[in-house]
Amino acid sequence: MATSRFAEVQQGPPIEVFAINKAFADCTAEKKVNISVGAYRTDEGKPWVLPVVRKVEAELASDMSLNHEYLPILGMEAFTTAAAKMLLGASHPAITEGRVTSVQSLSGTGGLRVAADFLCRVLKYNTAYYSSPTWGNHRLIFSDAGFTELRQYRYWDAATRGLNFDGMIEDLTNAPENSVIIFHACAHNPTGVDPTQDQWKKIADLVEEKKLFPLFDSAYQGFASGDLDNDAWAVRYFAERGFEMMGTQSFSKNFGLYNERIGNLMIVVKDPACITPMRSQLTLLVRGSYSNPPCHGARVVSRVLNDPALFEEWKDCIRTMSGRIIEMRKGLRERLEKLGTPGKWDHITAQIGMFSFTGLSAEQAKFLCDKYHVFILSNGRINMCGITTGNIDHVAEAINDAVCNVSKA
Ligand SMILES: Cc1ncc(COP(=O)(O)O)c(C=O)c1O
Repeated sequence: MATSRFAEVQQGPPIEVFAINKAFADCTAEKKVNISVGAYRTDEGKPWVLPVVRKVEAELASDMSLNHEYLPILGMEAFTTAAAKMLLGASHPAITEGRVTSVQSLSGTGGLRVAADFLCRVLKYNTAYYSSPTWGNHRLIFSDAGFTELRQYRYWDAATRGLNFDGMIEDLTNAPENSVIIFHACAHNPTGVDPTQDQWKKIADLVEEKKLFPLFDSAYQGFASGDLDNDAWAVRYFAERGFEMMGTQSFSKNFGLYNERIGNLMIVVKDPACITPMRSQLTLLVRGSYSNPPCHGARVVSRVLNDPALFEEWKDCIRTMSGRIIEMRKGLRERLEKLGTPGKWDHITAQIGMFSFTGLSAEQAKFLCDKYHVFILSNGRINMCGITTGNIDHVAEAINDAVCNVSKA
C-alpha cells in the first residue's frame, strides 16, 4: 500500500495557554491555582455566568416564537447596531452621520480575522504592526489572512514595568505608509499598561501624518475601569478625529460568553456611499469562510444592550468583576511587600484590566508550577481573576520564593 500522505505532517507547536489549562486539569495536587487563561473567576474560583445573562437565557428558552433559522450572513442587525453604539457611544457623529457599518463575528478573534481578510484581500494591505508583546494570536490571524509583512512596535519597558512610549513612537514613525497598526483599545494584553490620553493624542497625530491604518482590538471594554465609556476613550477619540478605522469587539470577557463566540467588527468610513459595496465584499468573505454566524450570543447581548433595565443590571455585573480584580491587585501587592519580596510591586496595582505582567521570567514561571502548582504563562503574565481570597497567600508565597531563589535568566 502507498504510504500515507498524512505521515508527512509535522507536529506543530502547542498553543501555550490551552496546554497549560490541560496541565492544570491533569494536576492532582490538592492546592493548585490556574492564573494563566484569561477568564473571570469568582472569589470561590468558579466561572461566573452573569445573573443578567442567566435571566435572558431563561426568557429565550421559554420564548416559543424563537427558532433556529439562519441569521443573515453579516449577522443580527439589532446586535451589530447596539454593539457599535456601545463602542463609539450612541450619539457619536460617525454613527449619526451614517458612517459606521458592522459585521457580527465569531467573537473578537473572528472579528480580527474578517478585518484582516478584508484589509488584505480587498484593500491589498500587506503590512501589519502589533505591539511587543501582544496577545498570542494577533500574528497568526494576520499571517493566515495573507499579510506578508508582520512587524512589531515596541510597547513594554521591562525596566520601568510601564509603556515604552518613545520606542513605540519611533517604531510607528518608521512604519511604511499604509501599514495596519493593531492597537489594544484598553487593558492591554498581556501588560495591563495603556497609553494615557495625551499619549493617545500623539499616537493619533502620527497615524495621521504617516497615513497608517488604525485597528482597535477591544476585548475588555468595561473590564479595565468598570466603566464602558472610559474604556472606549481611545477608540472614540480616533473616530472623532475623522480616521477611517476598524474596531473589533469581543463579548467573551465582559459578558462571560467565552464559548458562544460573539463579537463584532465595526468599520468607520469617511463617505457613507462606501458602505454598500464594502458590505457586499464582506458578505463574500464571510460566505466563503463560515457562511453565517451563530445566534445565541447575539440574542443575549442584543437584548441586554437594547433594554435599559437589563443594561443597568449588566453594568453592575461589570463593576462586580472589575472591582474584584482591583481588590486582588491590592491584596497581592500588599502581601508581596509584606513578605519583603525583592523588587518593586507597585506595577501590580498600576496595571489595568484582567492581567498583570509580573516581570517573572520563564524559569520563575516554571518554578511556580513545579513547586507550588501555580500555573502562569511563561512570559510572566498572570490572570488577576484567578486569584481569590482563598489562594492569594499561596500565590504570594510562591512568587516570593521564585523571586528570592530562582535566577531570572
Ligand atoms: C487582546 C485580545 N484580543 C482578542 C481576544 C479575543 O478573544 P475572543 O476570540 O475569545 O473574543 C482576546 C482574548 O483573550 C484578547 O486578549
